[in-house]
Amino acid sequence: MALNKKSVDDFNAKGRRVLVRCDFNVPLKEGKITDETRIVAALPTINKLIADGGKVILCSHLGKVKNGPNEGESLAAVAERLSEKLGKKVNFVADYNVTGEAATKAVADMAEGDVVLLQNTRFRGKEETKPEEAGEKFAQELAELCDDYVCDAFGSAHRAHASVSVVTKYVREKGGTCAVGYLMQKEIDFLGNAVENPVRPFVAILGGAKVADKLNVINTLLEKCDTLIIGGGMAYTFLKAKGYEVGKSLLDETKVDYCKEMMEKADKLGKKLLLPVDAVCIDEFPSPIDNPSINTTVVDADKIPADKEGADIGPKTIELYSEAVKSAKTVVWNGPMGVFENPVLATGTKEVAKALSETSATTIIGGGDSAAAVNQLGYADKMSHISTGGGASLEFLEGKKLPGVYAADDRA
Ligand code: 3PG
Ligand code: MG
Repeated sequence: MALNKKSVDDFNAKGRRVLVRCDFNVPLKEGKITDETRIVAALPTINKLIADGGKVILCSHLGKVKNGPNEGESLAAVAERLSEKLGKKVNFVADYNVTGEAATKAVADMAEGDVVLLQNTRFRGKEETKPEEAGEKFAQELAELCDDYVCDAFGSAHRAHASVSVVTKYVREKGGTCAVGYLMQKEIDFLGNAVENPVRPFVAILGGAKVADKLNVINTLLEKCDTLIIGGGMAYTFLKAKGYEVGKSLLDETKVDYCKEMMEKADKLGKKLLLPVDAVCIDEFPSPIDNPSINTTVVDADKIPADKEGADIGPKTIELYSEAVKSAKTVVWNGPMGVFENPVLATGTKEVAKALSETSATTIIGGGDSAAAVNQLGYADKMSHISTGGGASLEFLEGKKLPGVYAADDRA
């Protein structure tokens, strides 16, 4: 998809101070990074700017930072890993204020090709609030540190935050360039082509717990795809809309009519809407969620007993969904098929991942849980593209304009 925005290829960063917003929001366990995908994905843009002879100032958020700045959500571990990956020192400014004296000094001391990483942008709190409230000042301070700005934080591009979009106003005001990075371009190429210009048949697979979270994406993808496959907890509201009893399964009564509407829409448009034909049922939700000692029963989708809860797609559904994937030329997948955190209830999600790994279609994984599942299963190399964005890829697939993308300068 042609993105009519300036990119890092449209300017030479030699001698320029370039602020790059990355999404280094990586999972940490006891201070150690457990998945470095987002760090690796940021390297091409950073390396390009280094090669230009730019002064590369990186920033990102990490975590939700609900209780103010703390070492547990510091970007120190990211600085270290990034430094290994780049093969050069990353000067980490540990100051909880993010901008200010320490950051200004670190930037002033930079030589061409040097890399500085600022502290977690959400340590300023203001990052999370609306620009008209308080993010404005922080955005201004970020802009003061640099000459140009690059947004490469696809995973955060749906947030109209100080460091993601508001900063561009101030960089532009002083004549700087605002561009998108290579990761941003790659994500938008894959996701954009899949929905705007797909090689058909185009199969979209949506899972996850709640219909309410996917209302817009179901509606949008139904219009774009040839077959829409529904799995996960949200499938039970569709089954209810079909007139089936779903026992104790996840059900959103308020969305039953919506599901009916979507089924009618699919009919009218001549699209296939595939729902589970059988389900793996449990008596109680596992506690803890990954507790493997649970009883399961497989039943047809129209025979879910009143005292049981559907928690994964069954074997007939796996076959049905795998067949649909086999004959596809483009597949987009977002959301697990069942309670995949539990090894006993992960089969549906695993088998869908396997089907995607075996098809010759262009396969695009829309971030979040499905990306984690594909990575865990070792199928990452077999997919055409795994998005680094969860919420961002979903909003993109819904057809929303992402603030992080639209804040960049238009190409002349
Ligand atoms: C994510 O992991 O979802 C992105 O980094 C955005 O983070 P957020 O959902 O906390 O804004
Ligand atoms: Mg999120």
